[in-house]
Amino acid sequence: MSITNSEVSQKLYIETYGCQMNVSDSEVVASVLKDKGYIITEDINEADVILVNTCSIRENAEQRIWGRLDVFKQIKKKKPELTIGVIGCMAERLKEKLLEEEKTVDIVVGPDAYRDLPHLLETAETGQRGVNVILSKEETYGDISPVRLDKNRISAFVSIMRGCNNMCSYCIVPYVRGAERSRNPESILKEIEDLFNTGYKEVTLIGQNVDSYIWESEKENLPAGKQGETMKFAQLLEKTAKINPQLRIRFSTSHPKDMSDDVLYTMAMYSNICNYIHLPAQSGSTKVLTEMKRGYTREYYIDRINAIKRILPDSAISSDIMTGFPGETEEDHQETLSLMEFVNYDFSYMFKYSERPKTYAARHLKDDISEGTKSRRLTEIINLQTKLSEKSKKADLGRVFEVLVEGISKKSSEHFFGRNSQNKVVVFPKNNYNIGDYVFVEITECTSATLIGVLVK
Ligand code: SAH
Ligand code: SF4
Ligand code: F3S
Repeated sequence: MSITNSEVSQKLYIETYGCQMNVSDSEVVASVLKDKGYIITEDINEADVILVNTCSIRENAEQRIWGRLDVFKQIKKKKPELTIGVIGCMAERLKEKLLEEEKTVDIVVGPDAYRDLPHLLETAETGQRGVNVILSKEETYGDISPVRLDKNRISAFVSIMRGCNNMCSYCIVPYVRGAERSRNPESILKEIEDLFNTGYKEVTLIGQNVDSYIWESEKENLPAGKQGETMKFAQLLEKTAKINPQLRIRFSTSHPKDMSDDVLYTMAMYSNICNYIHLPAQSGSTKVLTEMKRGYTREYYIDRINAIKRILPDSAISSDIMTGFPGETEEDHQETLSLMEFVNYDFSYMFKYSERPKTYAARHLKDDISEGTKSRRLTEIINLQTKLSEKSKKADLGRVFEVLVEGISKKSSEHFFGRNSQNKVVVFPKNNYNIGDYVFVEITECTSATLIGVLVK
């Protein structure tokens, strides 16, 4: 029996882990299932279906999910008709094994198979368990209008590409998300226009490597003699910036080997493209970068940083740093610290290397840095970043920034928080402003994480 819109009125609860891609995918999942009549709930206890969108990037990311599955198991004991689905990257990595190891899980669905969710849930209703982890070379969900699950309705992620072709030697992403593919620019621009028209003030274009975005118009639909056009990331960025000057544009993640000056010049041309670049270095040692198969050297990375500082002198820069990669010596570690000092990062995400099955590093390199050394190096990296973050905030004292009001400050109901173009969080008095307004704030105080200021005209 097939289920039609009127028949399903089940409550769906989605819990999301991992990166921005997963946040965005959960909104696609919500859309696919809402179309079939499912009602989204934020209360796990009233759910008929629980979907957990998972991450496999490090072992501890997966451990967290196992912990959650234990909690769901307890809920299901009291409510046997509850359906539990594991979706996303860990579903893709473990496939059927997940069903074997976790009897409470009813369905396992990989990142490219979300259109199959209604069918799989229907199967689960009949007591059968289902798996779809087929990866696609084409799927971008470009035609699906995501159901926004965020609370503030001001800022949204827009996926512009999926998958990754880079095969960095430590990374599970290419295995769980498949080959890189770019989304049709028309559908991207339409989605952004719709967001702006419904009151959104900021979009972040997301992909594992936005710099390799490329769209070739289909030649067969063109008049005879006309050449097909190619759109690269810088051009897409320009088109999004032109939608409306009141709409802020951000993007993530840039890859150092692919980040072109064109992108930087486009950013410099449009004030609504935010002055913020996340450019993960991973390591400051060319030897380690080579083993990581990152495709650039320390010198090349520094060249890209110098280009940012030349073309966008007011841009904030952040990084991902990984410590304890196989073979990393004390000198390599020192090179990472010195690179961090050189760049003067405003912010970093910092991790210990975690061996991921199937990757090149897992197959060919020994995870030979002891846990103690990894922890000590990570602490040194975190301490340095805290110092750099403080320095970066202190340099903003006395400056005036345009801030997009995003919500009420957690610490005081009389204050709002928002971010400046550089992606730094700013806290300031509410006055008569509203969430979604742009305000000007003069910075008077700071902590290592936040700028605090007063409103100026
Ligand atoms: N596409 C992005 C990164 C996505 S994963 C890029 O290339 O920059 C986010 C971060 O997780 C990576 O930048 C890296 O620092 C970290 N990471 C990835 N695999 C890891 C692993 N096996 N162990 C520890 N950290 C890892
Ligand atoms: Fe992983 Fe490298 Fe692709 Fe980033 S670029 S997702 S680190 S393989
Ligand atoms: Fe994790 Fe998958 Fe993102 S592995 S970091 S959720 S692409």
